[in-house]
Amino acid sequence: MICIDTEKRSFTIHTNTTTYQMGLARNNILVHRYYGARVDDADFGYLVLPLVLGFSGIPGDLFPDQRYSEDALPLEYSTFGLGDYRESCLDCEYENGSRGASLRYVSHTVRTGLTVPTGLPGVYADADTGETLEILLRDSTTGLEVVLEYGVVEKYDTIVRSARICNRTGEKVILHRALSCCLDFSVPDDRDTVIFYGKHTQERTMQRTPLSHGKFRIDSTRGASSHQYNPFWMVCDRNADETHGSCWGLSFVYSGNFVAQAELDQLSQTRLVMGIHPQGFRWTLEDGEEFQTPQVILTHSAAGFDALSNNLHHLIREHLMRGPWRFRRPPVLVNNWEATYFNFDEEKLFAIAQQARDIGIEMLVMDDGWFGIRNNDWTGLGDWFVNETKLKGGLKPLVERIAGLGLKFGIWFEPEMISEDSDLFRAHPDWALTIPGRVPVRSRKQLVLDMSRADVRDYLFDAMAKILHSADISYVKWDMNRHLSDVWSAMLPSDRQGEVYHRYVLGVYDLLERVLTEFPDLLLEGCSGGGGRFDAGMLYYSPQIWCSDNTDAVSRLSIQLGTSFGYPIKSMGSHVSVCPNHGTGRTTPLKTRGDVAMMGTFGYELDLCKLSEDEKTEMRRQIEQYKQFSDLICTGDFHRLALPFGDGRCAAWMFVSPDKREALLTCVWLHVECDLHQLVLKLRGLDPDKQYYIDLKKYSLSGRTLMTAGLPIRSFKAEYPSLVYHLKAADTI
Ligand code: DGJ
Repeated sequence: MICIDTEKRSFTIHTNTTTYQMGLARNNILVHRYYGARVDDADFGYLVLPLVLGFSGIPGDLFPDQRYSEDALPLEYSTFGLGDYRESCLDCEYENGSRGASLRYVSHTVRTGLTVPTGLPGVYADADTGETLEILLRDSTTGLEVVLEYGVVEKYDTIVRSARICNRTGEKVILHRALSCCLDFSVPDDRDTVIFYGKHTQERTMQRTPLSHGKFRIDSTRGASSHQYNPFWMVCDRNADETHGSCWGLSFVYSGNFVAQAELDQLSQTRLVMGIHPQGFRWTLEDGEEFQTPQVILTHSAAGFDALSNNLHHLIREHLMRGPWRFRRPPVLVNNWEATYFNFDEEKLFAIAQQARDIGIEMLVMDDGWFGIRNNDWTGLGDWFVNETKLKGGLKPLVERIAGLGLKFGIWFEPEMISEDSDLFRAHPDWALTIPGRVPVRSRKQLVLDMSRADVRDYLFDAMAKILHSADISYVKWDMNRHLSDVWSAMLPSDRQGEVYHRYVLGVYDLLERVLTEFPDLLLEGCSGGGGRFDAGMLYYSPQIWCSDNTDAVSRLSIQLGTSFGYPIKSMGSHVSVCPNHGTGRTTPLKTRGDVAMMGTFGYELDLCKLSEDEKTEMRRQIEQYKQFSDLICTGDFHRLALPFGDGRCAAWMFVSPDKREALLTCVWLHVECDLHQLVLKLRGLDPDKQYYIDLKKYSLSGRTLMTAGLPIRSFKAEYPSLVYHLKAADTI
């Protein structure tokens, strides 16, 4: 609900449980007043204390009034150059070389629904589920305008922020930075920041650190959102945990360079900013042009991380993901990567498919190596035509044979990349991102295509469409196996090279959109060497993303549980692979591997032709179990009960169905001791008044008892054993 009070000069946004308030200070400076637990009647103007400190500047239009300085005020959108010395969102340069914008409120509009910005991914909502507030700010000296947009999805406690910078100056403006969102907390408090850091094969590890004076920043200048820092982060009260305390989440709906920063200033106020990374960014706006920043999804919970995560899970599933697959259970698949790597032919794939059919798998995914000349990772990228030496007879007969077994077919592409040893590179060396005269950086022996170029995208679309039309293909894994360097485009003049990083991302989105428009039923799985581009932007196109190249079940516990803070379980690509694990060398029971993969899309990635009968029997059971519980997994609420970080003895999580009649609890023991021990898990999300029958325990307890006193879980003597408990409300048994 958006409430505008002209007398009190305030803009208030209420969601189910939160309130966000802005107000107009002197001379129409748009200040931030409050963001936190819902308060219906408050006018938070009293929280904004105009202060002028030593060395604070007084804005030109306020002088000689000595009461207000933008260096101390909580601002809705901070600018560089005119007296606010904290981190800025906007840094613009005019033709005479001067910089700065004194943004003042001009007008506002409210409309129903949320619209997705053109060319970018975004949160959408219809008139029944969302509304949008737009506030127009202007710099009166130059005429530069900024439109701040606040899209509200009340039900899921989310406010979607972005900014549109409109050049109405009559001259050229250069943007050196254009971030999406600034969030100032004027009331000092002890807060922590929670980030999800990592590397290739160990993504989204949770780290919680107290905020102290200075600037705490996570970012990516890699051209992708990255394995190293995920563009979802949280700030929380020092005492916050899964079920208590205030926490704020910010999720960037963007897949390229980003910065997210928290700054504790001289007054111990906290400023959070998030947006496209200014490094390498320089965007020219001709008179009359606009620059649209990507969205940031903001959410707050006064009841800890659990509620925050579940709101985001719902929002992403219902208002960001699109297409038929966002609610549908994905087919149980087998991917041949860890089974064969590059070494396969049509007979090997068919043999895997036969075994797959036998155990109940529904789709075969042919990974890297089917195209061009590609027997290792030195060659072939860009040559998106079938290698008929490997797949004798071509793609169609293979897909038809596999369809004859009752299996769907999926295929791997890495559209954004090019090998120097490829026909494509020989024909178009200028299509790769390289700097004239400089030997380029190679990574995984490959170069990156200049996705900012329309001709490159046209080639890729035609090549992909030809393959996808040539056979009945249900699924595409869209990979990206290196980061950007040597960022220079042959298509842009020297003063516009600072646009290439962002134009690259816009180009990727454009190609994704074209592919999905041509093949609306296609299931896309995003991937970047595992989870190197796991962000809300990609989830607009691909409802699932391969979580990590690390398929070890124990490593996956921290990767998947870390991911679950910001992203729905349904979005996490997760497979059972062979032991000892190819990456870590660790051996875990097949049952545990299956139980962990069920916290995700569920599939297999191993050579099914090498299985024992016992293993096949266990896999049949797993697939049956996954099919039985897939609704719960895909649409249920998710609760993290025990985290595997630090010296955690076990990892535990549960799903609860929307009607609270059913729940599934999984626990994986990480450390077992000689003597049996037990731990009591307090369950969450159940109906306190319902009696739940717990299958493994063979007794019933009320939801209230299970949530208050807990359920004892016993360890047993084995390596990394897992236990799965199914709970059913008495009236549904
Ligand atoms: C990286 C992916 O994450 C893997 O699953 C696999 O598809 C390889 N690329 C193929 O090159």
